[in-house]
Amino acid sequence: MNPMLKKLMPVAIILMISIAIAFANSPSPASTQTVTAKADGELTIPKDYQSWPKYLSGIQRPDANPKQIREIYVNQIGYDTTQGHPFAEGTLFVMENYGVKLDATGNPVLDASGQLQKDKLLKTFVMGKVKDGGKSVDPALATGDWVYSAYLASGEKAPDPTTGCRGCHLSQKEKDWVYRYDEFFQKKGK
Ligand code: HEC
Repeated sequence: MNPMLKKLMPVAIILMISIAIAFANSPSPASTQTVTAKADGELTIPKDYQSWPKYLSGIQRPDANPKQIREIYVNQIGYDTTQGHPFAEGTLFVMENYGVKLDATGNPVLDASGQLQKDKLLKTFVMGKVKDGGKSVDPALATGDWVYSAYLASGEKAPDPTTGCRGCHLSQKEKDWVYRYDEFFQKKGK
């Protein structure tokens, strides 16, 4: 072997080993979150959530105030859940709440098929199932191990109280406190 290469060999080996260790020790952002977030407000918006499987897309909410279109993503752990079972611990949902295009009088401008049209992102809601997530919650508001966070489009915390999230989602107890459970599995096909 060329003497220069011989000298560099141990360096290269150490470098390769350290790269391998670094990769082995760097869990995805999603799994880091499920380990650290225990309570409402602690889930952050995962950086890569837009590359996750879509849960449901283009949900029209003309009844909401303000009127909205919603995009929902779920991480792989959640996506792999089979119908009839609760979502696995480690499941994360991210829901983008968009405003809709309005005319000068405040009425929605519909597209050719009568649908609302997406405008600016208003808020991002995150909901995750974490071990003991419901432990410190008022039992009247506990929704299993789900915890909730809400952010403004700027990335700052939204003023929405997480007791509000719980107040609504409580009604979905039969479906693991997840609203669009049936619709998701119908679309996914299992
Ligand atoms: C007024 C009742 C209400 C409140 C308050 C509410 N939700 Fe929901 N949530 C819904 C409904 C209804 C859906 C189904 C999607 C839709 O129709 O917009 C939903 C869906 C979701 C989903 C997608 C998974 C699913 O259940 O289908 C997430 C994530 C979510 N909400 C998080 C939150 C968070 C976080 C908060 C609090 C900041 C919150 N929600 C507050 C009613 C509510």
